[in-house]
Amino acid sequence: MTTAVIALGKIGLPLALQITSKGQHVIGADINQDVVNLVNDGIEPFPGETDLQEKLDHAISENLLTATTNTVEAVSKSKEIIVVVPVIVDNDGIPDFSMIDSATAEIAKGLQPGTLISYETTLPIGTTRNRFKPELEKISNLTCGEDFFLCHSPERVFSGRIFADLRKYPKLVGGTDEKSNDLAVEFYERILDFDDRPDLERANGVWNLGSSEAAEMAKLAETTYRNVNIALANEFALHAQDLGLDVFSVIEASNSQPFSHIHLPGVAVGGHCIPVYPKFYMHTDTSSKIPKVSTQINESMPQRVIDLAENYIGSLKGLTVAIFGVSYRGGVKETAFSGAFPLVEEITNRGGKAKVHDPLYSESEIRSLGLVPHETYESCDIAIIQADHQQYSELSYESFPGAKLIVDGRNIIDSEKVSPTPLKRLGDGRTW
Ligand SMILES: NC(=O)c1ccc[n+]([C@@H]2O[C@H](COP(=O)([O-])OP(=O)(O)OC[C@H]3O[C@@H](n4cnc5c(N)ncnc54)[C@H](O)[C@@H]3O)[C@@H](O)[C@H]2O)c1
Repeated sequence: MTTAVIALGKIGLPLALQITSKGQHVIGADINQDVVNLVNDGIEPFPGETDLQEKLDHAISENLLTATTNTVEAVSKSKEIIVVVPVIVDNDGIPDFSMIDSATAEIAKGLQPGTLISYETTLPIGTTRNRFKPELEKISNLTCGEDFFLCHSPERVFSGRIFADLRKYPKLVGGTDEKSNDLAVEFYERILDFDDRPDLERANGVWNLGSSEAAEMAKLAETTYRNVNIALANEFALHAQDLGLDVFSVIEASNSQPFSHIHLPGVAVGGHCIPVYPKFYMHTDTSSKIPKVSTQINESMPQRVIDLAENYIGSLKGLTVAIFGVSYRGGVKETAFSGAFPLVEEITNRGGKAKVHDPLYSESEIRSLGLVPHETYESCDIAIIQADHQQYSELSYESFPGAKLIVDGRNIIDSEKVSPTPLKRLGDGRTW
């Protein structure tokens, strides 16, 4: 039995390798020829995924994985199809299905009777049944629930530890009909292993939620919940700042301490998921209130950080501000919805000069994002730590020559290393 995995990105490739690790053949299809070449050459196309290279070596040497740009052919040779092509949102927060629609059309062209298709991309509720099913039926001339089978099964993993997360969390599935439910359960039970989780209400494994809508909603509920939590943490952080509380350690400049240092955890939320999925949720629940507010709070954080910096230092006009981290979070080479972009915009609007550092990106990669690269040890007036790259815990006093203010938005820098003398903290010392 061969499985086709459509899109070999940070989620699709690990999924393909999870399946090959069970001895099953996979054809991976991706529109990016460079990704296809790298996979066929056994070279991981992106850094940072634990155990990926080792599993890729195994899959290639055992002839279990081939990559292609030809989705139609990959699908025509497979009885199970996993789709992980991204859905994004446009500037107005409206879902943009163009990439996944085009993949769906290709899948339909190659679709064979008896095939199960599982969409793992996070989707607005109803998308599998109301958008993909009619399109697949129309182009393939096959009937869903009779000739082919369709389900949604959301990815609940964190880049960097995907193989561990696949074992740790129950695999949620929901079909568009009973037979699709059953085939989806059988398929995922075959390709996944699960950790023993006595803390869960049911045995860890494949959980049949009964409908594609329930599976779509489960993922949107858990990610929107997180977005709301982050917004609340951001509110607490800002208020604690206003009050000068030690919990968010503000360290002020003095004779022996040449720069101020503000530690304000969680300044931004980025990536394809947490900033986007509340918008998918609101796409169907148009009367929803809380996700709207949490999204506003989280999206305002880069501006609030710059306000804070100006409160400490005065106008940014003519000052150089170094942003550490263009990735949306530490250890991941991904800039989707990264807080770095609104920070740069805000700094530029206020007359400052924004520069960006990131250990995962070369200077030319940073330039190709429309940004100006900054090297550690280059001078700057203000440093803002935007991503919690592990390397940033090693930053020292010498890393920021000339800086009058450091804002640590991720609680990653080591205060003892960046301070030439013991620190004097503001606030009354309480840490409740
Ligand atoms: N990254 C995460 O942490 C994460 C976590 C949970 C769920 N997800 C879900 O997985 C989806 C994919 O995320 P990712 O991180 O793998 O994205 P990614 O940007 O790393 O990779 C996407 C891949 O899709 C390919 N692609 C685009 N259009 C295509 C098409 N028509 N046919 C075939 N391939 C196509 C691109 O070339 C690229 O290689 C997300 O949209 C999200 O729904 C991601």
